[in-house]
Amino acid sequence: MNAAEITLADLDRNPDPILARLRANEPVAWVPALEMWLVTKWDDVAFMEERPDLFSAATEPSFLARALGQNMLTTDPPEHTRLQSIMKPPFRPGGRSGPFAADELPAMAAGIAAAINGPGFDVMTDYAQPLSAGALATVLGLDAHGFDTMWAWCEGLCADIANFENDPALTALGETTKAELGAAISARIVDADEMDGSAIGAFVRDGATPEEIVNNVRLMISGGINEPRDGIGLVTWVMLTDDALRERALADSAALRRLIEEVFRVFSPVGTVTRQATVDLELRGVAIARGDLVAGVLRSVNLDEDHWSDPSRIDLDRREGAHAAFALGAHRCLGEWLGRQEVRVGVEQLFARFPSLRLDPAHEVELHGFEFRGPKALRVLA
Ligand code: HEM
Repeated sequence: MNAAEITLADLDRNPDPILARLRANEPVAWVPALEMWLVTKWDDVAFMEERPDLFSAATEPSFLARALGQNMLTTDPPEHTRLQSIMKPPFRPGGRSGPFAADELPAMAAGIAAAINGPGFDVMTDYAQPLSAGALATVLGLDAHGFDTMWAWCEGLCADIANFENDPALTALGETTKAELGAAISARIVDADEMDGSAIGAFVRDGATPEEIVNNVRLMISGGINEPRDGIGLVTWVMLTDDALRERALADSAALRRLIEEVFRVFSPVGTVTRQATVDLELRGVAIARGDLVAGVLRSVNLDEDHWSDPSRIDLDRREGAHAAFALGAHRCLGEWLGRQEVRVGVEQLFARFPSLRLDPAHEVELHGFEFRGPKALRVLA
């Protein structure tokens, strides 16, 4: 299959063989079905990430800006740098996320696991989803709203972000969610002096406008729940399919941390960074016109044979440097530290509660999605 024949459905089903062919034959490929270039080699995506002046995040049109309002992921430096300096501190270990991960996250995970009644359950919906939603709600200071509401907000926003065919029902769902969530966030933005230690409190004190807070918290909710959820599901799944890896990871927390990195690398839950060319340019000898959309495919660069040895193998002793699952440039994931803690603590607490956890042989595990990829369900027996 050459690039002209690729469809989104093919990529959603199984992107890896398609991306391997593109890396070998058309590393900078125009894909008509997506109306964008796919860039699949590590060096080229690293170049894109180093040059926001050539590859702008402020794309026009922007599904992200339409669904959420203008936010840090739809702006370039220097405006982006200012927003990042306000939005990032609560997600570093020295901000709200540090004490949350150390003091509250293990109990939150243990509580959700304790409420699960076996023998069979779905790790994704019964555990990973409420844990990811609850963790982000607590750090942001939206915990009054509960797991289910956070999850419904996330789904409503994502439905509109991925509404490439402009389905009016999805637009309406997106608009309702955007307004409802906007009201909930606005209600939390009181006078800065009265704010608590939550991330929203820190944004107010650090001088973000109410509109900036609302739009960027919408961005955090649209991306900061699905991804740790998929991370917990993928790491759990890999551990349940490989006894030696599971034993090593459960016996040694350094090994579990390395396993998490390898799973993020091999499965890359976020598929691409999508940008717009600001000038006519050439990449690997291919002409890209000003205004074209260009997707740097993180999933592909994390498996690039010229960058990694035996790339598909999960190797806890690999020493080949950092992967690109959280991106490489100015927009590198703001929640990566918190996300990693959610996955690590989530997996530890799940296996602590269910030491004999195993895959349910009656249900095959199916991964789905290109832009966001994870298990549709992970049915297990306790
Ligand atoms: C743990 C799994 C996660 C993965 C794999 C992941 C992946 C990514 C990637 C690849 C990007 C870059 C997108 C781009 O440049 O187009 C990104 C950005 C971002 N992520 Fe994450 N993410 C994760 C967790 C989180 C969490 C827990 C949050 C919570 C707030 C979060 C919030 C954000 C935000 C706000 C941005 C935009 C940053 C900017 O524009 O500077 N992510 N993430």
